[in-house]
Amino acid sequence: MSPTTPWWRSAVIYQVYIRSFADGNGDGVGDIAGIRSRLPYLKSLGVDAIWINPWYKSPMADHGYDVADFREIDPLFGCLAEAERLIEEAHEHGIRVIPDIVPNHTSDQHAWFRAALAAGPGSPERERYVFRPGRGSDGAQPPNDWVSCFGGPAWTRLPDGEWYLHLFAPEQPDLNWEHPEVRAEFESVLRFWFSRGVDGFRIDVAHGLIKHPELPDLPPRQDAADGQRPRHVEHPHWDRDEVHEIYRSWRKVADEFPGDRCFVAEAWADTPERLAAYVRRDGLHTAFNFDFLMSTWDAKELRTVIDNSLAMLGSVGAPATWVLSNHDVVRHVSRYGRQSPARRWVANETYRAEGPVDLGLGTRRARAAALLMLALPGGAYVYQGEELGLPEVEDLPESVLQDPIWERSGHTERGRDGCRVPIPWSGRTAPYGFSPADATGAPWLPQPADWADRGVAAQSGDESSMLELYRTALRLRRAHPALGDGTLTWLDAPEGVLALRRDPGLVCVLNLSDEPYPLPGHTAVLLTSGPVEGGVLGTDQAAWLAV
Ligand code: NOJ
Repeated sequence: MSPTTPWWRSAVIYQVYIRSFADGNGDGVGDIAGIRSRLPYLKSLGVDAIWINPWYKSPMADHGYDVADFREIDPLFGCLAEAERLIEEAHEHGIRVIPDIVPNHTSDQHAWFRAALAAGPGSPERERYVFRPGRGSDGAQPPNDWVSCFGGPAWTRLPDGEWYLHLFAPEQPDLNWEHPEVRAEFESVLRFWFSRGVDGFRIDVAHGLIKHPELPDLPPRQDAADGQRPRHVEHPHWDRDEVHEIYRSWRKVADEFPGDRCFVAEAWADTPERLAAYVRRDGLHTAFNFDFLMSTWDAKELRTVIDNSLAMLGSVGAPATWVLSNHDVVRHVSRYGRQSPARRWVANETYRAEGPVDLGLGTRRARAAALLMLALPGGAYVYQGEELGLPEVEDLPESVLQDPIWERSGHTERGRDGCRVPIPWSGRTAPYGFSPADATGAPWLPQPADWADRGVAAQSGDESSMLELYRTALRLRRAHPALGDGTLTWLDAPEGVLALRRDPGLVCVLNLSDEPYPLPGHTAVLLTSGPVEGGVLGTDQAAWLAV
């Protein structure tokens, strides 16, 4: 990689789900003090940047994705001065900082929404959100048939008779992005944080901001044939073309500041072409590539996803990003630990765990997947705890579930708490060093009794651990000129085997077939995902070779 290439074209970005990363003040919830105390760990892991899930003032109806004030830190996590210290200290450790920004909605406790409620129907205050009269003679039917991503209708009626739109929880009213004050406010918020030294933003629901002006009903549901993804159809509130204009303005704001800033869009697009539209040269820098995350453990499908992503993003000059897990999906050790392939994309439906999990299998595949991901051209995301091989906690008692999905679905969907359990650091029993020894609060979600061996301390120095695999891979990746930004060449390989070359001089092979695969010619084995005997790669193993 040339020294002038921007850092974000090849960065490994570690996702800090702040509630569950490290608890500095002992109340059982992770915070900024906790992150600051773990910067040496992040440095030794070898990541380039951290993305921190929302830390703003919030009533926490959706754990911070309901923001009441974008310029304040929630007292649960710390204060603005601490955030500023964190940014400085992270930079001293050579780690960049990317907060999350949530432009699609605010909290219902945001000053704007409170003013809108107080001002009543027809007021200018209501125009910053999406208020409408209902349908039917008495207006008792919602304005259209849109549904909340968390279950139930996307509209809530107020005592004064008007309805307001919320694509997520009722505590998260959608903003009206046609309103100039909304646009101006977010540009001001970006400048507020850029001038405090942040290196970019992760943009929440980046594909949702623009709604069809007439708010029509949803198009008929397109069920995908053969479990394949549907083709793109125009949607009244997802991925509308006009959204790109907003990001062109945001790009200009980022470019006002010195150094390389980076936006990463959480944009769920139907096709790689649609995703590429977010990262054109005058738009955002990068976007999460969820196709990789959603691919089944199948060589052909993985290769197709990789080829399509590289082709489409490459056609607009953007780097790919690769993601295996995040705070919204079942952890991949558990997804890969099921014999039946992960559920494919079916019209926006989320993955559901089916059948018993084999954590040995899932872990073997997760190790191999990490070597594949980190060998691919572009940047990569590591979700906290993935480097520890944490599985999804699938047996949280119902009484502790907190994700709004659990309530909104009428207790039919358990939601995302299982991937958000506070991570283990040290010690043999909960809280496993997540909270200090004199903590007054228990971790906000209970940690499994068998996590002692999964902690950072337990894995450090154990060459067979997931943590040391990640550390070694990240060290090699940083040092090797072939890794990070660039291109790849596929090499001939038997069915079920992926073999790719990165120049100069590195080959990554991954065996997803049932047959052992003799390693192709090499000068040295740089790293393998598990013990390789007699130069033969077993099922679900990967290797990096010097050639
Ligand atoms: C996507 C975030 O990743 C998720 O956690 C959140 O619930 C929704 N956006 C709503 O903001």
